[in-house]
Amino acid sequence: MKSLAFLISIIATANAFTFLHPPPLSLSSSTSLSALNPGSTVALTTPMLPSGSLDIPAYRKLLQWHVESGTKGLCVLGTTGEASTLSFEEREEVLKVTKEEIKDKNHNVSIIVGTGTINPSTCIKYSLQALKYSADASLIVTPYYVKPTPTGLLNHYKKIADAVPELPIILYNVPSRTGCDMLPSTVSLIKENCGSIIIGIKEATGDLSRVEPIKKMCGDDFMMWSGDDSTGSEFVLLGGDGVISVTANVAPLKMNFIMEAALAKDRSKVEEENEGLKGVHEELFCQANPIPVKWALWKMGRVEEGIRGPLTVLEEEYWGRVEKALEEAGIL
Ligand SMILES: *[C@@H]1O[C@H](CO)[C@@H](O)[C@H](O)[C@H]1NC(C)=O
Repeated sequence: MKSLAFLISIIATANAFTFLHPPPLSLSSSTSLSALNPGSTVALTTPMLPSGSLDIPAYRKLLQWHVESGTKGLCVLGTTGEASTLSFEEREEVLKVTKEEIKDKNHNVSIIVGTGTINPSTCIKYSLQALKYSADASLIVTPYYVKPTPTGLLNHYKKIADAVPELPIILYNVPSRTGCDMLPSTVSLIKENCGSIIIGIKEATGDLSRVEPIKKMCGDDFMMWSGDDSTGSEFVLLGGDGVISVTANVAPLKMNFIMEAALAKDRSKVEEENEGLKGVHEELFCQANPIPVKWALWKMGRVEEGIRGPLTVLEEEYWGRVEKALEEAGIL
C-alpha cells in the first residue's frame, strides 16, 4: 500500500511538472530520425560508358525520369549500382549528382545509400560520406563471405550506429548473395540494442512468412522493404512498406502504381497491374543482376552498354527472352 501511494505521488508530480514545463515541440527535421517514404524505391543502376567510366549525364537523366514517374525513393550505390567496383571518388560523384537532382530541387524522394561491406571501418567511412550528401538512410548488408554469428552481426551494426548516429540504418538481408541469413530474432536483437537508428530492413529472401514476425517484434513503425520483385507486391499486401526494386529501373510508373495500390490494400488492382510485369520481374534475373537490367536500359535507349568486370554484358542467348518480357510489359 505504502509503495502504491508513493508511486501515485510520483506520477502526480511528474504530471504537474509536464504541465508546468511542456516538453519541446519536436526536434528539427535534420536531427530527428524520420521515417522514409513507403512505396516504390528503385535500386538504381550506375550508367557507364562502354569504356567502363561513369556516364554522369545519363545518370542525371535517369534521376529526372524517376522524379517524373513518381518513384518514392532511390537506393543508390547498391548491388544494382555496382558499388563493389566503384572507387571512393566515384561514389562521391554519384552522391553529389543525386543530391543536386533530388534534395537541391526539393523533390520528395528518399535517398538510401548502400554503405555496407565486410569491414565495419569501411562502412563507417562510406556512411559519413553518404551523410555529407544528404542521404536519408544507409542500407547496410550483413557482412558477406565471412559468415558472422548473430552476436557478430549485432557488434557490426552497433559499431556503425555509434560512429554515425545521425544516419538512420536499414538492415539488409540477402542470404543468396552473402551466405548469411539474418533471422527475425537477430533483427529484433539488433533493433533492441541499437535503438531508433535502426529504422527498417530490406528483406530479400522472398520468404513472405517473415513480414509478420518482424513487424510484431520490432513494431509497426519498423519499415520493411522487399528486395525481391517477384514477391514484392504480395509482401506489401501482407504489411510491408515497399519494394527496393530492380524492375522499377525500367518500369517506374507501373511500379509506383502497383505499390500505391498495394499500400492501399487493393489486391485486385495490384494483381491486374502486376500481371504484365511478371516476365520482367523474372527475366531481369536471368543472369546476375544488374547484367539484364543494364542491357534492358540500353535497349530502351536510356544508357550506353557499359558494365564493369567481373560482370559482363548480357550474353546473346538471353537477349530474346529479356526483349520479349519488356515487349509484353509494354516497355519496348
Ligand atoms: C512526401 O511523400 C510522402 C508520401 O510518400 C508524404 O507522406 C509526405 O507528406 C511527403 N512530404 C512532403 C514534405 O511533401
